[in-house]
Amino acid sequence: MEQTFIMIKPDGVQRGLIGEVIGRFEKKGFYLKAMKLVNVEKSFAEKHYADLSSKPFFAGLVEYIVSGPVVAMVWEGKSVVATGRKIVGATNPLTAEPGTIRGDFAVDIGRNVIHGSDSVENARKEIALWFPEGLAEWQSNQH
Ligand code: CMP
Repeated sequence: MEQTFIMIKPDGVQRGLIGEVIGRFEKKGFYLKAMKLVNVEKSFAEKHYADLSSKPFFAGLVEYIVSGPVVAMVWEGKSVVATGRKIVGATNPLTAEPGTIRGDFAVDIGRNVIHGSDSVENARKEIALWFPEGLAEWQSNQH
């Protein structure tokens, strides 16, 4: 079954949106396979966003991700990568549709509440990076 990596960023955690985000994925019918609240180090944030290292906003993005705890999650279900991106909404909250998380809760591209993997391949890489310990055995037998 397909899996994706979803991270609630520091602004989402600080604004009390953890339950809101989890509720949207649960109500859609996806399964939560792993979750942890973490303070990431700068080098780890740089690794997660390595593909963006040449962008002018890279340093600010890394600084933002390390500014407070984030919630790292693995969600599973049919087409969860593409559908998860729809639930999350467009990167720029100003163009994200109402009804999406970014469309409903953000206005600033640099404070866009949440990250979701953009492809199955990147989901696999991100899950391996954030959950090197792997997913617990019982979690693969839930459904
Ligand atoms: P995310 O889905 O986590 O993937 C890359 C992140 O880079 C994106 O969400 C935004 O938070 C951030 N980002 C993308 N474009 C810009 C930009 N022009 N200015 C600041 N941050 C950006």
